[in-house]
This record gives sequence, C-alpha cells and structure tokens, in this order.
Amino acid sequence: MQNKTLISQPFDMIVFGGRGDLARRKLIPALYHLDRERRLPDDGRIIAVSRGTMAPEEFLQLMHDECVIHSPGDSVHGPFDEESWHRFAARLTYLSVDATDPASYGALAAALKGRKNVVRAYYLATAPDLFGPIAANLTALNLVTPESRLVLEKPLGKDLPSARTINAAVAEAFAEPQTYRIDHYLGKETVQNLMVLRFANALFEPLWNRTYIDHVQISVAETVGVGGRWRYYNESGALRDMVQNHLLQLVCLTAMEPPATLDADMIRDEKLKVLRALHPIGPDDVAQCTVRGQYRAGSVDGAVVPGYLEEADSAPGSDTETFVAIKIGVDNWRWAGVPFYVRTGKRLPARSSEIVVQFKTPPHSPYPASAGTIHPNKLVMRLQPDEGIRLIMLNKGRGPGELRLRQTALDLSFNETFGGRSPDAYERLLLDVIRGRPALFMRLDELEAAWQWIDGIRDGWHEAGLSPKPYTAGSWGPNAAIALIERDGRTWHEDEF
Ligand code: BG6
Repeated sequence: MQNKTLISQPFDMIVFGGRGDLARRKLIPALYHLDRERRLPDDGRIIAVSRGTMAPEEFLQLMHDECVIHSPGDSVHGPFDEESWHRFAARLTYLSVDATDPASYGALAAALKGRKNVVRAYYLATAPDLFGPIAANLTALNLVTPESRLVLEKPLGKDLPSARTINAAVAEAFAEPQTYRIDHYLGKETVQNLMVLRFANALFEPLWNRTYIDHVQISVAETVGVGGRWRYYNESGALRDMVQNHLLQLVCLTAMEPPATLDADMIRDEKLKVLRALHPIGPDDVAQCTVRGQYRAGSVDGAVVPGYLEEADSAPGSDTETFVAIKIGVDNWRWAGVPFYVRTGKRLPARSSEIVVQFKTPPHSPYPASAGTIHPNKLVMRLQPDEGIRLIMLNKGRGPGELRLRQTALDLSFNETFGGRSPDAYERLLLDVIRGRPALFMRLDELEAAWQWIDGIRDGWHEAGLSPKPYTAGSWGPNAAIALIERDGRTWHEDEF
C-alpha cells in the first residue's frame, strides 16, 4: 500500500477554463481521485469558472460523467465509487466568469471573501493570451493574497518573445515563487524515478558520462493523431508541443549534475545549466541534425486513419510537423561528444516513451568471432506504458558446447514490483501546488532557455526552407529519421526481448 500524503492546509482551487477539455479529462478526475483516496483536507474547495451559465446540477452531472470515464477505478480501489463522488461533489462549484471582463468576477469574489489562511490556487487552463488579463483582473479586484498561487498550463507562448510577454504580464500580479508552470511529464512517476535511479544508487553515476556512455535516445511515440485539436496543433507542431517542454525536461533530468539537495531551486539550477549547454542548431545544421515529418493516411492499431491534412478542421497545404527527430549535443565536460537523439510523433505504431542510455562496447574482446557480437549494454527507462527499467547485457548462453554470448535483460516492472496503481501525473502536481512545492514546475529562466534553443531550430527551418517529409500513419516516421541516427553508425532502440 502506498504512503498517503494527507495535506491539512485548507485551500480554494479556482480553475479557469473549468469546463474545458483539460479540466474535464484531467484536473477534475485527478482531484476526485485524490479525494477518493482521502488525501485532501476537509476544508478544500474547487471552483470551476468559465464563460457561460450552467445550472449547478447540470455542471455536477457533466463532471460526474467525465470522472466515470477518466477516473473509472482500478484493481486497488475497485470500480468508480458513487459515495466518494458525492463527498467530492460537495466541494465542487461552478461560476460563470468572463475572464476578460472584471465586472463579471463578482460571484467569484464573493465566494472567496472572508476565507483566511487558505491557500488560493488559480489554475489557468485557458488559452495563454488570457493569462495576463486574468492575472490583471485578479489583482485589480484584490483577489491575490500572499497565500495565492498561479498555475499556468502550456503552451506558455509560441517563442521566446511571446513567452516573455505572457510571463511579464503575470509577474505584475504574482511573484515568481507564486508561479507554478506545469509540465505534466514532471509529474509522471517514472520521470521522478529518473533522479532516484541516478542519485540514490552508487552504481550508475560513475559511468554516467562521455567515458562510458556512447549516446542517449529519448523517444516519445504516440498512436493518436491530432484529434479535435487541429487548429491549436497546427500553430504549434511537434517541436513546440512536445520538444520545447516534455522532451527537453527529459534531456535535463538525464544530463544534469547531481543537485546538492532536493530544494526546488537547486534542482532547477542544474536543469538550467543543461538547457544553456545545448548546442545551438541553426540554418546551417538543421538539415543534418533535425528531421520534420507529417503523417499521411495509414493504419494504426488495425484501424484506417486519415492523414494530417484530412483531419477535421484542417486547412490544405499546412507545413506543420507532426513528427520531429533531433540530434542534440550537450556542450559541457560530462557530455562532450555524446549525442542525445530525441524523437516524438503522432500516429506512430505504438504508444511508448522511453529513455535509452547506450554504453560503449568493451575496448577489447577476448572472445572468438564464433561466440557472437559484443552488443553494447543499454539501460532502458520505460516511462509509459508498462513503466519499468531494463538493463540489457551479455551473458553466456547455457550449455557445454561452443561458447555463445547471449543478450539478456535484467527487468524491473514497476507494476509487478510495487503493485498498486500508478497515479496520474496531475494528481501529484495538484497536490504539490496545494502544498507549495515548486520543484516539479518550470522556473522562468528554464522556460526562456528552452524557448531560445527551440527558436533557433524554427528559424533554421525557415531559413533553410526545411519542410516536413511525409510518413505513413502507423510507421516510425520518415526514413530520414532512421538515416539521422544510422549515418552515425547507430540505430534506434527496438525492444528485442
Ligand atoms: C501534451 C501535448 O502536452 O502531451 C499532446 O499537447 C500530447 O499533444 C500529450 O498528446 C502527451 O502526453 P502523455 O501524458 O499522453 O504522454
């Protein structure tokens, strides 16, 4: 049984975009589940706000139905529990607020009035152009207390200048320590385990450098397409949607130096150093170091699926990438000469996210060629699905005959080892907001360093006229992504066991 984190701090969580997709699929189901596990204090309220009126019972019914779908229960807790829902529903209210119109904040101000020593967390699950106006309205109406926190969802801008504008606007109302920038990958159990693996074991750290590591691969593959989000996605593309945040955070956690303590700023200082050490990629190297792809019709999981340009709401001729692969250099002492190959895409053959650290082959082999190839060791950290760690190594095949070297794996499945249920990333992150723990949230300087590096690639694509190459849905992206790694004499990891 997992240890329960029970927080005693009373809170009001105000969710702007309270009827939107994120609130329905992730935030409210995560809060419901936390309450079901009795991790929330009795004095904790959730106020969903959005434009448009809705009767309280209609709102509660809507959220009930979403929780049934998105927090359906599991082998540990049993099926969806109506009794828990009723307890949770008592915390939940809906208010109609037009985020841009201060005159419409009256009911919210009244609901918050008179609550002393209560953490107030404003969660902005809205379009980013509303972040500044909402922050300004909250200050103008005196709704920002010293105990207030502001949670910002991605996308936090579309480039460095727009990210700076948004952050400067919210900084007028909320100080940096009050600002929680979400990257939900940091809430994933296995992503947090990366630090434990590296810094709580003596085994790996001495080998974790250019002397022993040949290269690192980070793949985040999705089977889904852009779904109903074509318009948002088309402005963004895989580079901004996935690499700027999730993949770069994974690069940081893999490459960073050990922090002295788990203090939020110590961790973020170390991640920032990695971001600042990323080798810039500009017009002269985009063709060599990056691959853009866009899916065409194909089949995924046995179902025929349309191409990106045939999805609902699509516009012809878009050159937004739905796949990207990049060879990244980290210009520092530890990683000089060790490439990090990252790739992510929609409509790939499998949903799978993993970090593969490939070690160098031994400098000398005493074995005859007939014993087989000396394959390098690999440490595979599987983030989803089937979270786990796998150490691939060579062993002697059994038997008295000719010596054969066999590739084998030490396998640790988190499900089998720890049992229970792996919490959704948002459960952890929402608890951290209420508890005031910012370590798993991005600091402004990190965000800016990430955008700066990403902007270089985008400008490079533009200047070099690098358009996405087509790939068939259900394939591993354009052939150029395979060539990207193969021309260095390496291959993308495939699970052969
Ligand atoms: C989001 C992206 O941040 O992450 C989506 O906007 C993507 O496009 C999603 O599908 C992937 O998250 P996860 O947790 O399903 O790997």
